[in-house]
Amino acid sequence: MNFRNPFVNRSMIKTPGEFVGRAREVKSILDRVVKMQCSSVVGERRIGKSSLLYYICSTYKKELGEGYEVIYLDLQRAKMHTYTGFLSEILKKFDYPNDVIKEDSGFLRNLCIFEEAIEELNEKIKPVVCFDEFENITRRTGEFTDDFFESLRSLANSGKIAYITASKTSLYDLCRGGKLTSPFYNIFTNINLGKFSGYEADEFVGSNRVLENFNKEEIEFILNLGENHPFYLEIACWHVFEAKLKGSIDRSKIRKEFGEEISQYRTFKKEVGTSLKQEKPGEKESLSTVELEKELDEFKETSIFMLLGEPGGYYRKAVLDPVEYLVNKKNMNGVYLCISEPYEIISGEMKKRGINIKNLCFIDCISEKSGENEFCIYVRNPDDLEVLKMNINNIIGEIGAHKFLFIDDLSSFLIYNELRTIEEFIIKVLNDLQINKTAALIASIKEKTPKDLIDRISPRCDKIIYVG
Ligand SMILES: Nc1ncnc2c1ncn2[C@@H]1O[C@H](COP(=O)(O)OP(=O)(O)O)[C@@H](O)[C@H]1O
Ligand SMILES: [Mg+2]
Repeated sequence: MNFRNPFVNRSMIKTPGEFVGRAREVKSILDRVVKMQCSSVVGERRIGKSSLLYYICSTYKKELGEGYEVIYLDLQRAKMHTYTGFLSEILKKFDYPNDVIKEDSGFLRNLCIFEEAIEELNEKIKPVVCFDEFENITRRTGEFTDDFFESLRSLANSGKIAYITASKTSLYDLCRGGKLTSPFYNIFTNINLGKFSGYEADEFVGSNRVLENFNKEEIEFILNLGENHPFYLEIACWHVFEAKLKGSIDRSKIRKEFGEEISQYRTFKKEVGTSLKQEKPGEKESLSTVELEKELDEFKETSIFMLLGEPGGYYRKAVLDPVEYLVNKKNMNGVYLCISEPYEIISGEMKKRGINIKNLCFIDCISEKSGENEFCIYVRNPDDLEVLKMNINNIIGEIGAHKFLFIDDLSSFLIYNELRTIEEFIIKVLNDLQINKTAALIASIKEKTPKDLIDRISPRCDKIIYVG
């Protein structure tokens, strides 16, 4: 055993060997970088955003083809708080002579010079910038104006540069909060970073650092304290290690000390967050029909939206509203997966609302029937996910273009299947949908959906809409 406590990480991890999990997030960011598309990592304080960005910067060369150059910038640094500092720092990191940006050149001139510099860089490299703590610049709207964001946006839009941002709230909220009118945020895909999954927590305690220092019971205790939160796991390891150094593992004492350290962090979080709700990425207040339609206006060919609602009558309406909008107004075709209520009931309600159900094909896996009729295919066992997936893919293949899958609802799946099985199933289905150019809406009752499951699926979603 070591005599120095190795569990001292409290901020960004810089050693790739100590970085655990997040394989899907890394992959989905890199898949976009390859196409010079932008990603926005959103998550609460200490969930691992900076570590993720840094990990990408230190490992991308192995994963990507020739030509990409990914740099990391921490926007907390004072130097980055003026637009000239910001632009010249980017150029400097790409080894471009940064004295071309001059304080006295004036705003528009400097922006033009920057655009030209990026175009020139493009002849040799594909530049990608990771911006950590992005709220630092959307806050300073006097310095970073609409024109500034428009210029950044147009460079990225034409594929000359790509950005990966990290922030505690979504770019949409940050831009709107700063009263910016530039649709800067809409070139980004959200990656919502939550706690580790069970697998990742196992990976954390299975890493050399942990295995070398703790026995099986201690590891179990650490997992129990850490609750799948990367930062808490690190702190739990630290406390158990300290106790071992002192020669006694008094669990209740460790629990108390761990709790004290964590509570510092928790109270701090409450003080700084204007509301904890705001820290939930991409989530909106309960919506009116008009607002909902506005959100759905961005629902495109391969969009994935999650609809989170409260149980009860309003939930029904909140599920039917989007279907009505997509089918009747946008003339889309859909596959409707009935898990919470049978086809007969849902389709009856849809007919009452005037939803054109000819555009829909239902898969009912709750009526315990088999066979099919004109509008519906019955799958007898909701736990037969392979059959379900096959049916979804078959119908998707048959209906015309401009189509979506509606899952109603995710939380009802839990009655029939294990959490991890559902998670895997959903991810596979989403992958197939992307290939078939099909969008998806995943509805779920928020209080019945484990946060773990939302955390695992939300990185794949472009938007999470709280439908009240
Ligand atoms: N992928 C990870 N693997 C291992 N530890 C992590 C990981 N992500 C976060 N941590 C732990 O959480 C701490 C905070 O991470 P950090 O990246 O600074 O979070 P954020 O930028 O979201 O505030 C790190 O010091 C580390 O202890
Ligand atoms: Mg950070």
